[in-house]
Amino acid sequence: MSDVIVHVKNVQKTYKQGSIEVHALRGVTLELARGEFAVLAGSSGSGKTTLLNLVGALDVPTTGEIDVEGRMLSSMTGKDLAELRLRRLGFVFQAYNLIPVLSAYENAEYVMLLQGEPAEKRREKVMKVLESVGLKGMENRRPTELSGGQQQRVAVARAIASEPALVLADEPTANLDSKTGSDLVATMRKLNEEHGITFLISSHDPKVIRHAARVIRLEDGAIVSDERQNGKPAVGYNPVDAATEDSEAWRGGNADGEDYDGD
Ligand SMILES: Nc1ncnc2c1ncn2[C@@H]1O[C@H](COP(=O)(O)OP(=O)(O)O)[C@@H](O)[C@H]1O
Ligand SMILES: [Mg+2]
Repeated sequence: MSDVIVHVKNVQKTYKQGSIEVHALRGVTLELARGEFAVLAGSSGSGKTTLLNLVGALDVPTTGEIDVEGRMLSSMTGKDLAELRLRRLGFVFQAYNLIPVLSAYENAEYVMLLQGEPAEKRREKVMKVLESVGLKGMENRRPTELSGGQQQRVAVARAIASEPALVLADEPTANLDSKTGSDLVATMRKLNEEHGITFLISSHDPKVIRHAARVIRLEDGAIVSDERQNGKPAVGYNPVDAATEDSEAWRGGNADGEDYDGD
């Protein structure tokens, strides 16, 4: 299999609001390799959500093409696209989007239910995944009985429980305090490392950007820079490099202690 998981080719997206046209993306070209942990940075209105929605097959480009795992999205049927979203992609949204009447366990299990996984297998995966995001022991809590950071961890658990190839996260730390946001990014990076899941995360949060191996900057609908940073390998990030800085987070803890983040 090709190790390019996402190929965005000269994509433009124009929204029409009555007689006004908004050029949300103005010719974006981008390749994402399997296993990358990349952040899509840029101020509000720069086109981050638009690009994630297009890559996630939630919307279609005005012009240009997007391939996901070597398949051209525009050539796929609605049914194929739904299958792709269900089986190959995971989504994490700014507002968590958990189902309020379901427990953490049931929320995390939800995508697997849709996938038709047998109960035994679901249970095994859900317990493992909740533990890996630091929520062991909180399986039976409803979203209202969890903090914002814990709710977002459930959302991450839900996104990865189904073992997607690619997780698209839209400003996942926007509603979290500094420490909680930092822990969440570290958790996502651990999942990237341990499970080889590719992450494309939109954010203008400096903490998220600081943790990224690759930062793609959007400005006014165009990519203005695309850099690898901190000597971190873009593929197969090594947690040992960050062990000192993130020792709390790597234990999966929301454990207290000083706010090492400093911002
Ligand atoms: N559904 C829509 N209809 C019209 N304009 C939109 C729509 N969605 C986004 N836009 C506009 O497209 C531009 C990019 O928006 P967006 O992708 O949401 O940026 P970001 O996520 O970086 O804040 C903005 O000018 C925004 O107002
Ligand atoms: Mg946005």
